[in-house]
Amino acid sequence: MVALTIGATAALLLGQASAYHQERRQVGSEKHTVVIPGASSYNGLNLIPQMGWNNWNAFHCDVNESLLLTTAQDMVDYGLRDSGYNYIVLDDCWAVGRNESGYLVADDYKFPSGMKSIITKIHALGFKFGMYSSAGVLTCGRYPGSLGYEKKDADLWAEWGVDYLKYDNCFNQGQSGTPKLSFDRYKVMSDALNQTGKEIVYAMCNWGNDDPYDWAYRIANSGRMSGDIYDSFNRPDDRCPCTEAAGCAWPGFHCSVMNILNKMPAITSRTMSGYFNDMDMLEVGNGGQSDSEYVVHFSMWAINSSPLLIGTNVGTLSPANLAIYSNPAIIAINQDTSASAAKRVWRYTTDPDETGEGEISLWTRSLSNGDRIVALLNAANITMNMNVTINEVFFDERTAGAYRAPPELSQTWDIYDLWANRMGEAEAAAILNGTSVEIPANSTTRFNATASTYAKGVESAHPALIGSRVGTLQPSGTFTAEIARHSVGVYRLRSREAAMRKRDEL
Ligand SMILES: *[C@@H]1O[C@H](CO)[C@@H](O)[C@H](O)[C@H]1NC(C)=O
Ligand SMILES: *[C@@H]1O[C@H](CO)[C@@H](O)[C@H](O)[C@H]1NC(C)=O
Ligand SMILES: *[C@@H]1O[C@H](CO)[C@@H](O)[C@H](O)[C@H]1NC(C)=O
Ligand SMILES: *[C@@H]1O[C@H](CO)[C@@H](O)[C@H](O)[C@H]1NC(C)=O
Ligand SMILES: *[C@@H]1O[C@H](CO)[C@@H](O)[C@H](O)[C@H]1NC(C)=O
Ligand SMILES: *[C@@H]1O[C@H](CO)[C@@H](O)[C@H](O)[C@H]1NC(C)=O
Ligand SMILES: *[C@@H]1O[C@H](CO)[C@@H](O)[C@H](O)[C@H]1NC(C)=O
Ligand SMILES: *[C@@H]1O[C@H](CO)[C@@H](O)[C@H](O)[C@H]1NC(C)=O
Repeated sequence: MVALTIGATAALLLGQASAYHQERRQVGSEKHTVVIPGASSYNGLNLIPQMGWNNWNAFHCDVNESLLLTTAQDMVDYGLRDSGYNYIVLDDCWAVGRNESGYLVADDYKFPSGMKSIITKIHALGFKFGMYSSAGVLTCGRYPGSLGYEKKDADLWAEWGVDYLKYDNCFNQGQSGTPKLSFDRYKVMSDALNQTGKEIVYAMCNWGNDDPYDWAYRIANSGRMSGDIYDSFNRPDDRCPCTEAAGCAWPGFHCSVMNILNKMPAITSRTMSGYFNDMDMLEVGNGGQSDSEYVVHFSMWAINSSPLLIGTNVGTLSPANLAIYSNPAIIAINQDTSASAAKRVWRYTTDPDETGEGEISLWTRSLSNGDRIVALLNAANITMNMNVTINEVFFDERTAGAYRAPPELSQTWDIYDLWANRMGEAEAAAILNGTSVEIPANSTTRFNATASTYAKGVESAHPALIGSRVGTLQPSGTFTAEIARHSVGVYRLRSREAAMRKRDEL
């Protein structure tokens, strides 16, 4: 009972702290500051989710320097770097051992120019560089791990110019099973990275083991919350036995998109600026799902503030998949400074005989400028007319207590479809074949996040970020949309009253 009470209080504090998104807050008119622990990034890094590319899902151990360099160049040419995907992350299987002084040695067959020189070239292309290791004696691919060598490894990476570490959990010598064991083990690397004095984003990959939702935000910038993803929309697999994140003792692998997504609702309050629940790397482009299933995968990762790491072969990207990865109206939600996750308001399993086996669910998310996101997810097997009422959109406000009537319920909300302006096949093909390079300032399909930021773009109502108006939600109203099987409608809701007030202030 006592433990329960403490847990509940901690959850409340964490929830409040993350709502402020800042470490110091002015109290009254005095220059008196209060530090809210955990209210922001522990090391000041990664205030919005990291974006980039990681080789694992498409290439596993078949990596080498030309793959890294050609992928980086392709990402520049296809506008992906300028869409915000600015980390190139090398995964497992790069080190061959340690030298006599105990430092890691990179495979000089795969990386003949040497890691430092490759990283310098990646930097010159306008990217940051991510490195991989494991908090164990071996990595998952049985290459040398960093347990016991944290200081040496962090120093070497810093010297090479590494900007990011993905830190796995294999071969941990049994130093797991309680939050304290995992916290202590992962903290050693956190401290070692910090002590290098170089800014290095720390991406924990312990698959949600030992409930990192309670402790990892104090030592890391993101944390995987599930066993490994595989390229399936909803196929259950015995090797991914958990359906909930909290208390999952055996995260496993071969987790489907729907399995991982449905683990998120319980832990949404544990997403905050500087610490993101990592739903794992994207599978878009790898061939195991339909176009609309990839749209669901990308959209739901984005609105939950998961890191967005392209996990496919960029060199063979199809126009349709480029269009998904580039949708700026969806990325703008992910990169919103509110740095929060979506809430699942309801979820119903559907009747196999009447509506096709599966489920439907409603997700909402608030954004820093007061806009709302609504996602109508149809994971059933037939097209559905899905409904959302204003009471459902503002469910939390409505149930927050009786001290005030939620003003949102008496406002009129314009509804913008965020997939309506998806880049067409011809435009995407022209980008891929090099005919179209520059992103025009007035594009409705592309946004240059190198020239500006998503936050500034939304503020100026950039045409690529707001979608296309498809309806309104009135006080006590309902919005209905036809959603095809295995697809999602994602909408941005803007209050007319708030927009008018803003105009008056100008
Ligand atoms: C590098 O890796 C890629 C992807 O696995 C492969 O296609 C290519 O042949 C490799 N190149 C070299 C020089 O080994
Ligand atoms: C081991 O590697 C480190 C880092 O690359 C290097 O500074 C050191 O000289 C090497 N030691 C030996 C004995 O080769
Ligand atoms: C190290 O951590 C401290 C907070 O403990 C932070 O202020 C500092 O910026 C960090 N430095 C680096 C290089 O990460
Ligand atoms: C889903 O519908 C497709 C036809 O669209 C059908 O082939 C398939 O068997 C159905 N799957 C399930 C699980 O009902
Ligand atoms: C949405 O509302 C319409 C009209 O009331 C109804 O026919 C339909 O079944 C509803 N959709 C769902 C998924 O409940
Ligand atoms: C590039 O793609 C565009 C759009 O599909 C097409 O019109 C054009 O002919 C292609 N150019 C080349 C060089 O392949
Ligand atoms: C995006 O903007 C940057 C900085 O202004 C510019 O260098 C780059 O070429 C632009 N990218 C595209 C694809 O238009
Ligand atoms: C963007 O501006 C260019 C040049 O001013 C114009 O030709 C084009 O039609 C505009 N595109 C859109 C989508 O407004």
